[in-house]
Amino acid sequence: MDHFALKDGALHCEGVSLETIAAEVGTPVYVYSTATFERHAQVFREGLKDAGRVHLAYAIKANPNRAVLRVLANQGYGADVVSGGELARALSAGIPASDIVFSGVGKTRDELAQALSVGLGQFNLELEEEGQVLAAIAHAQGMTAQATLRVNPDVDAGTHAKISTGKAENKFGVPIDQAPAIFGRLAALPGIRMRGVAIHIGSQLSTLDPLEAAFTRIGRLVANLRAAGHPIDRVDLGGGLGVPYRPGEVMPSPAEFGAMVARVTRGWDVELMFEPGRVIAGNAGVLLTKVIWVKPGVTNPYVIVDAAMNDLARPALYDAYHDFVAVRPTGERMIANIAGPVCESGDTFAMGRDIDRVVSGDLAIFRTAGAYGATMASTYNSRALVPEVLVSGDKYAVVADRIAAETILAAERLPDWLTA
Ligand code: LLP
Repeated sequence: MDHFALKDGALHCEGVSLETIAAEVGTPVYVYSTATFERHAQVFREGLKDAGRVHLAYAIKANPNRAVLRVLANQGYGADVVSGGELARALSAGIPASDIVFSGVGKTRDELAQALSVGLGQFNLELEEEGQVLAAIAHAQGMTAQATLRVNPDVDAGTHAKISTGKAENKFGVPIDQAPAIFGRLAALPGIRMRGVAIHIGSQLSTLDPLEAAFTRIGRLVANLRAAGHPIDRVDLGGGLGVPYRPGEVMPSPAEFGAMVARVTRGWDVELMFEPGRVIAGNAGVLLTKVIWVKPGVTNPYVIVDAAMNDLARPALYDAYHDFVAVRPTGERMIANIAGPVCESGDTFAMGRDIDRVVSGDLAIFRTAGAYGATMASTYNSRALVPEVLVSGDKYAVVADRIAAETILAAERLPDWLTA
C-alpha cells in the first residue's frame, strides 16, 4: 500500500498535490511519501515477529537520501552500507555505528579502517584476504572487528541476471563448500571476532523458494561451524524481497516471507539480520515528469517526457517496467511509446503501452521509483541531476536540490596548455 492517490481529480502524495510540487520545484523530480516509508518499515518488521531476535539494516543503496535515512532511523532501522560514502551518510542521518553492517565485494583498506575507527557493528567479509587485512588493521589498533563471512550458496534467485548474486559464478561471497575452512582460519586470527555468516542471493525476487533453499543451506553450514567449535550468534539473511511494479502483480508479502524465515530458522538460536532495500523504498517514491511532446510514430505515438534514462536508469538497464499514469487522468486511454529526451534509443521507458491519454504539458508519474531511482541518476547528455522531495502529511520539503548543468560545468577545469 502506498500514499499516492487521486484527490479532486489529481494525484496527490499524502496531502500534497503533485501539481503543486511540479509548479514549485519543477520537473523531473522524485517525490517520496514519509507515511509509505513508515508503513513499509513497520510491515516488514511485523512480518518477522515470530523470527526471534531480529536486527533490521536498511540497504541504503536503494535510496540513500539523508531525510529518508532519518525517517527509517526513527523506525529503529540500522543500515547496510557498501562504501565509505554510504557509511558517512548513515552516520550523518543519526544511525548509530553499532547498527551498521558493511557489505560489498570491494571494500578498500581505507574504507575498512574508516569503518573500524567509528565502531562499526558488523563487517560482512567477501573473501579470506579481506578478513586477514581487517584483522591486521584492528589488531594493530588494539581493536576487535565484528565480522561475518558472506557465503555464496549457489542458488539461482530466478531474477534478472544483472541483479542476481547467489550463483557460484557471481562475484559475491566465498563458495559454500570452502566456507568452513576459511571461517576457521579467520576465527583464529587476533583482531577479529567471527560472529556468523551472511548471504544475499539477489534482488527483486518474485518467489520465496530460492530464499528458502539458500537459508536451508546456511542452516546446515551454521550447524557444521558449531560442530567445529565456533560460537555462532549472528546470521545475516540479506535483502531481495520483490515488490509489485505492474498493476495487479502479486509478490510474496513480508508476512509470508517472515513465516518462511521463522519456519526455516527455528532452533538456530542466533540474532537474525536483514538488509531490505526495495521492499522498504520501492513503492514509497514516484518520478514526476512533464510531457514535452506527443510525437507521431510509425505504429504508435511517442510520448516524450522530460525525465530520461539518466534520471531513472532501470528500464534502460534491466528492461524494468515502471507504471506510467497521468497526474490528472481524463479517463481516456491511448497506446503509446514513452521515451525521454536523451539521444539513445535505449532511453525508452515503454513500447506500445496502454496508458492514460496525455498531451503536451501534462504531468505524469512513473510509479515504484523510490528504490534504485534517484540514487542511480547521472548527468548524461549534460542534464541536471534530478532533485528529490519528501512529503509528510500536507507539507513537503526539497531534500535534494536539482544540480544544474551549469553547476556541474563549473566543476570542470581547462588545463593551462589549452588556455594559453
Ligand atoms: N544486501 C546486499 C548485500 C545487496 O547487495 C543488496 C542489493 C541488498 C541487501 C538489498 O536488496 P533489495 O532488498 O533491495 O533487493 N539496481 C538494481 C538492484 C541492485 C541490488 C543490489 N544489491 C535495480 O534497480 O533493480
